[in-house]
Amino acid sequence: MNLQHYSYYHNPVLLKESIENLITDKNGIYVDVTFGGGGHSSALLKRLDRKAILIALDKDKEAIKNNFIKDERFRLFHDNFIHIKHILNYNHIQKVSGVLADLGISSYQIDNPIRGFSYRFNCILDMRMNQDDPYSAQYILNKYSKNKLFHIFYEYGEFKNARKIVEKILERRFNKPIKTTFDLMNIFLLKKVSFKRKRRFFSRLFQSLRIEVNNEINCLKHFLLESSKILLPGGRIAIISYHSIEDRIIKYFFKTGIFQKKKEETIIISSDKKSMIPFKMIHKKIIKPNSLEIINNPRSRSARLRIAEKLL
Ligand SMILES: C[S@@+](CC[C@H](N)C(=O)[O-])C[C@H]1O[C@@H](n2cnc3c(N)ncnc32)[C@H](O)[C@@H]1O
Repeated sequence: MNLQHYSYYHNPVLLKESIENLITDKNGIYVDVTFGGGGHSSALLKRLDRKAILIALDKDKEAIKNNFIKDERFRLFHDNFIHIKHILNYNHIQKVSGVLADLGISSYQIDNPIRGFSYRFNCILDMRMNQDDPYSAQYILNKYSKNKLFHIFYEYGEFKNARKIVEKILERRFNKPIKTTFDLMNIFLLKKVSFKRKRRFFSRLFQSLRIEVNNEINCLKHFLLESSKILLPGGRIAIISYHSIEDRIIKYFFKTGIFQKKKEETIIISSDKKSMIPFKMIHKKIIKPNSLEIINNPRSRSARLRIAEKLL
């Protein structure tokens, strides 16, 4: 394993905790649906035996190009994890022993000054993880309706003042299109606001746009449903998420096998439906990085790991 290679691309988060709890059969078939810099994949291969297979995917071409793993047990594909079942079919695989997802973006993506994920660099507002996807953040900001923009900032950014944010965006784009990261930031002057609050505001603003550009919530739901179909009984799914919206979806799905509707429509599960719940939680409590990991890799601080086991 080439430690140096993957740490320049991305420093893997909760590595030991996710890998060790995922493996139930050392000669089983596993899927890493978010290859990134390959840190989790290479650690998995190190712990698996000779007959094991590891299928990995990433929707970012650069992650695929950066692959450094040469191992006959390993196969890597450029695809969205919503197509996990299709990729397995292509490999003549029906069921797997484990699925790993480390959601969000890699350090390589966020630190790349031309990808538009970070407010630290002035560049075109792109934010597409898959460079072949049709709509960038720039398109969304300049073309989406008032209601659609409100949905993004209210639901994904959890901004109570989402309406105000949208008004400012509409006012600015009426005069001049919003093209770059700094164009967007300059809409919000935040003159008397502390550095910490400014950073929090822009992180949430950028994150909410990124979620929309990459259709992250729908992809996650689709992936959870597909995973519940491809796991062998006793097989495990480990998911690392980085914000509460995703974590709530994962937690609820592992507990109930369904997705929660809006607050006012909370679903009541009848006792016969309860017997259809596909997963058993492996840990009652969520797993978070310890203080040492956070010191060594501050980007790990918001990571949350949940692991569940497929029931019969
Ligand atoms: C946090 S990084 C993964 C890092 C990886 N575990 C490692 O050790 O280097 C997340 C990766 O998932 C990819 N990704 C996010 N959503 C995806 C999706 N729907 N389908 C496929 N890949 C996705 C991103 O392009 C990114 O490379």
